[in-house]
Amino acid sequence: MKQKAIYPGTFDPFTNGHLDVLERALNIFEEVIVVIAENCQKHALFTLEERKTMTNEVICDYTGVTVEVLRKGLLADYARQVGARSIVRGVRQVKDFEYEFQMSLLNRQLYPEVTTVFLMPNVKYTYVASSIIKEVAMLGGDVSKFVHPCVLEMIHQKREEQN
Ligand code: COA
Repeated sequence: MKQKAIYPGTFDPFTNGHLDVLERALNIFEEVIVVIAENCQKHALFTLEERKTMTNEVICDYTGVTVEVLRKGLLADYARQVGARSIVRGVRQVKDFEYEFQMSLLNRQLYPEVTTVFLMPNVKYTYVASSIIKEVAMLGGDVSKFVHPCVLEMIHQKREEQN
């Protein structure tokens, strides 16, 4: 059976740090589904569809990866439905770990067959997070080192719409 994993997140927007984690996951799993979901504690800049569009553009040259949207419901249920027994999460620093530990144990409680796999991105992405990229970009800063050109274009469009 093919080893399938899901890589969930809000991806608002998808960054080069996320891509680094995805590439590492593709070295381990034959199939990875990037699952764009809502974190009810965050207010997103991009709609789920916009995030799906940008992520599809970023990954268009990769094989073994697809992008899906989780509109409602639990991630654990989604993993079960698609037959994925691994959840990939990127951890950049120790402070990420407490929240990740909690989510991982909760997801295991909800779906006992699932295992969360933590991958560390390249150290150059340690301080990269979607919220800081959004803040810098919306204030006119250059974030081209941290996101794919198509993501940059969508950020610029959003900035124009909001001004
Ligand atoms: N490089 C750069 N940034 C990274 C990164 C990496 N390798 N890995 C994580 N991050 C950043 C993200 O950009 C994000 O930054 P932000 O807070 O500034 O937006 C932060 O680290 C972590 O967020 P993300 O990976 O997007 O995950 P999340 O915590 O927002 O996502 C869900 C959480 C969507 C997976 C979770 O809410 C979920 O599963 N929702 C579905 C409903 C559900 O089942 N809930 C119960 C869960 S137990």
